[in-house]
Amino acid sequence: MELVDLSVPFLRSRRNAKWQRFGSDVIPAWVAEMDFAIAPPIAEALARIEREQDFGYPSYAATVTALAKVFSLRMKERFDWDADAERVQFVSDLVQASFASVMAFADPGDNILLQTPAYPPFRDAILKTGRRLTPHSLRDDGQRFVFDVEALAAAIDSQTRVMIFCHPHNPTGRVYDRAELEAIAQVAIRNDLVVVSDEIHADLVYPGRQHIPLAKISPEIAARTVTITSATKSFNMPGLRCGLMHFGSRALQDRFEARIPPLLLGHPGINGFEATSAAWTQCQPWLDRLMAHLTANRDHLVSTVRSEFPGARIYAPEATFLSWIDFSALKLPGTPFQFFLEKARVGLSAGDTFDVASREFGRLNFATSRAILDEILGRMIEAVRAR
Ligand SMILES: Cc1ncc(COP(=O)(O)O)c(C=O)c1O
Repeated sequence: MELVDLSVPFLRSRRNAKWQRFGSDVIPAWVAEMDFAIAPPIAEALARIEREQDFGYPSYAATVTALAKVFSLRMKERFDWDADAERVQFVSDLVQASFASVMAFADPGDNILLQTPAYPPFRDAILKTGRRLTPHSLRDDGQRFVFDVEALAAAIDSQTRVMIFCHPHNPTGRVYDRAELEAIAQVAIRNDLVVVSDEIHADLVYPGRQHIPLAKISPEIAARTVTITSATKSFNMPGLRCGLMHFGSRALQDRFEARIPPLLLGHPGINGFEATSAAWTQCQPWLDRLMAHLTANRDHLVSTVRSEFPGARIYAPEATFLSWIDFSALKLPGTPFQFFLEKARVGLSAGDTFDVASREFGRLNFATSRAILDEILGRMIEAVRAR
């Protein structure tokens, strides 16, 4: 795994959005993908497809059944969660899964809860389908962002149908603990909500924290939870388009299918299926090495931000390779996104795309080599000093 010697010209020659979005002198640290090479077993799975010219229609019934079993075994092994292979629907990506869930479980005009700040496409899934967004702010308790269950309960009314729940949370990097999950589950059950639990970052949890799938909390919450996940984030292959929805009960899946015919969702391609299978069965050693590298990068980033940007606020993320930084104390001209793009030639994610109240925040992706991370930080430090 090329964790150390990444070459900027090589990365820039990729056609991906990460490296193409900004000017050729900008180092990108925005979209949630990593700069690293994929794990060798995934590369081998893709090479086999090419070698054998296996580009026809996949044998869907067999492929879907086999990969659903792999998913279920992986969830048991990683999180001691009994996910049912029969309750799996494959999709191309999780944005599709969140749109489909919103359309299945709420009518136009219904209210949908979303913790803010939020991954921007969740807002689109609500607003672009004519549903109404009920924002529920995470609370900064001075140590981290916490889930305010009382505020959640207060935000619910008779038109609230669904909660989109992101766990671990992007952009704050929170990993909710059992007590928080139990409280959330109780509110959802009491108010007859369907919960769409996006757990795409579940593999990227740092030492000292543990991911507990929401559907594992109790059979009652499982019965109303759609867990959406994929291997694409943690194994760095979002371009391969393979994700899944897991329904915690047959009744929930029936309700979904009554509104969204599964064939409308299409199927992932053979590359996505095969790569996901390789990731979940053969790539844990690669993931362990990745997490060691990300842990060191995270710690380095947090200490550098604290020492070099006095007043900026950063909590070490408990999961994800994303950091959520409050630059308000620096009184930068413009937003941090604009300032660092123009003056440092670093492309962060803009805070206000996650929440209008977060315009003084920037999200920084640190899934790169230490040398590139230091280049990013060095440019930002220079820009702040020169301001
Ligand atoms: C929480 C969350 N969900 C979903 C996605 C996107 O997933 P996909 O590429 O499968 O749509 C991301 C990507 O950053 C994410 O952070």
